[in-house]
Amino acid sequence: MTTTSNHSAPAAEFAGKTALVTGAASGIGLVVARRLAAEGAAVVVADYNEQGAKETAEAITAAGGRAAAVRVDVTDPESVRGAVDLTVETFGGLHLAVNNAGIAGASAPTGEYTVQDWQRVIDTNLNGVFYSLRYELPQILASGGGAVVNMSSILGTNGFAGSAAYSAAKHAVVGLTKTAAVEYAAQGVRVNAVAPGFIDTPLLKGGDDAQRQHLISLHPQGRLGTAEEVAELTLFLLSDRASFVNGSYHLVDGAYAAR
Ligand code: NAI
Repeated sequence: MTTTSNHSAPAAEFAGKTALVTGAASGIGLVVARRLAAEGAAVVVADYNEQGAKETAEAITAAGGRAAAVRVDVTDPESVRGAVDLTVETFGGLHLAVNNAGIAGASAPTGEYTVQDWQRVIDTNLNGVFYSLRYELPQILASGGGAVVNMSSILGTNGFAGSAAYSAAKHAVVGLTKTAAVEYAAQGVRVNAVAPGFIDTPLLKGGDDAQRQHLISLHPQGRLGTAEEVAELTLFLLSDRASFVNGSYHLVDGAYAAR
């Protein structure tokens, strides 16, 4: 009698792929990097928190994955170029990129927002995404195609009192995403934006309990999201399961935007 089994282990979804994740020392980026590695990708953990990036890469390696850490400051185009080059030198190509590094920035009404605070947020949350795309896209093309996720926000479509720079940058990331998608669609590169509601990560530290309760109340599901929930959508968009999903803005927001 011959027996067959339908229970062979599923192939790792990102086996043979190389991924670069910015802001991967903490929060959403850390979970995305870990999950990509668990699914077989070789991951470059890029962050300006060098120690945190090293710890993330070591944890991935200890769990049996492939990872390297690099210090990057996404506000500096040469630093971003260096991180992309290191990815290609270390792992032989680049197929997947998650442009996720970001800061919350100062909170003040637009008429009182300091120019310095404005520039810092725009430099990180908008210019950083452009510099990343600028150096990633040629390498993704040279590697035969791939997929990119840019981390936008619910504030990529909504305003939020006190967050002029953040909201402006996250709206602009949607425009960058759509434009890059249109430009590279025929060459086998997909570019999408993920738009989280408020997520329980270190980015939200600093607020008091009343502020946290206010943020929770904005989500009809009655809680903040988790980094895992954002990573789930991000990995889907990076995968071949999303092969016809391109150039769009994807909410993961507990119905925040649906009200
Ligand atoms: P986080 O603070 O836990 O992680 C952000 C990471 O980016 C940190 O490791 C930080 O060192 C790094 N980073 C900051 N500036 C950098 C720079 N110039 N160069 C390189 N690395 C830099 O924050 P979280 O929540 O994981 O945020 C990740 C992304 O998700 C950000 O773009 C954020 O705007 C976005 N997002 C977060 C939401 C939230 O409520 N936590 C909601 C919507 C979007």
